[in-house]
Amino acid sequence: MFDPKAFIEEAVSEIDIGEETAIIGLSGGVDSSVAAALVHRAVGEHLVAVFVNHGFMRKGEEEEVVRTFRDDLGMNLRVVHAQDRFFEALKGVTDPEEKRKIVGEVFIRVFEEVAREEGAAYLVQGTIAPDWIESDGGIKSHHNVAGLPSGMTLKLIEPLRDLYKDEVRKVARELGLPESISERMPFPGPGLAVRVIGELSPEKVEIVREANAIFEEELKKAGLKPWQALAALLGEKTVGVKGDIRDYGYTIAIRAVESVDAMTATAMEIPWDVLKTVQKRITREIPEVTRVMYDITDKPPATIEFE
Ligand code: XMP
Repeated sequence: MFDPKAFIEEAVSEIDIGEETAIIGLSGGVDSSVAAALVHRAVGEHLVAVFVNHGFMRKGEEEEVVRTFRDDLGMNLRVVHAQDRFFEALKGVTDPEEKRKIVGEVFIRVFEEVAREEGAAYLVQGTIAPDWIESDGGIKSHHNVAGLPSGMTLKLIEPLRDLYKDEVRKVARELGLPESISERMPFPGPGLAVRVIGELSPEKVEIVREANAIFEEELKKAGLKPWQALAALLGEKTVGVKGDIRDYGYTIAIRAVESVDAMTATAMEIPWDVLKTVQKRITREIPEVTRVMYDITDKPPATIEFE
């Protein structure tokens, strides 16, 4: 039986960086949050956590990270607003793999600049067991395994390397992290950039951000806890009608799945009244949207994310 308390004690006692500085990219997701909180316990001010806002975060995510890590935990947190840089690099790009590659590359460049400024000697990562098992086995390349800057001289600290997701959540609870983090749904590294099909625009990203927030809120109200839920904006506008007037609007697809490891997933049977409420709220609160669809496809053949 996994004992989170014993794990924390041992992990903290093993981390020793002397008077050097360690740096971590903190996304607000459960893995990087736990890795950061753990290393902070061991080295305090010697850890610099960096939150890079690439512009594709969920609603309120930056505020929440600042509140939790800077205000509550007293961590040395640097917030980097790099939205313009990411948008500039993604102009005209429609291919999903190309989008991912660009987001990854700009992220590494931004992060390297901060690491250099801070004079960091150590890099902390929230890598967990499935990340390196899947990457080593060639199933898929995870960003924190495949995305390391080449020629990197930073020494790696990966305190969660042998843990699985449910164990990481136990450690999060034991560390006293808020439920919004310990029970947080998975979210892709490139964020909302992969939930807009086709070329990105600030307008489309804003629409999809709002739609994701509404869907998550209504699921919470209904007491539903899917393994993952998301909203994606599909391509171009289609015909709709609002207030007796013909209108062109975007289509939002919503998706909720049940899964244990994201390798396979089943579309969740959400009660019709919950779906209707989500549809009404999305089309009322986001005037640019005229159509909402619920995705009933399992994985395989569909992936969880749209892209
Ligand atoms: P797919 O869409 O391939 O996704 O079925 C499986 C799970 O992985 C998440 N995902 C990512 N997680 N970095 C991550 O940390 C990424 O680049 C990334 N892309 C997809 C996805 O949200 C789902 O939970």
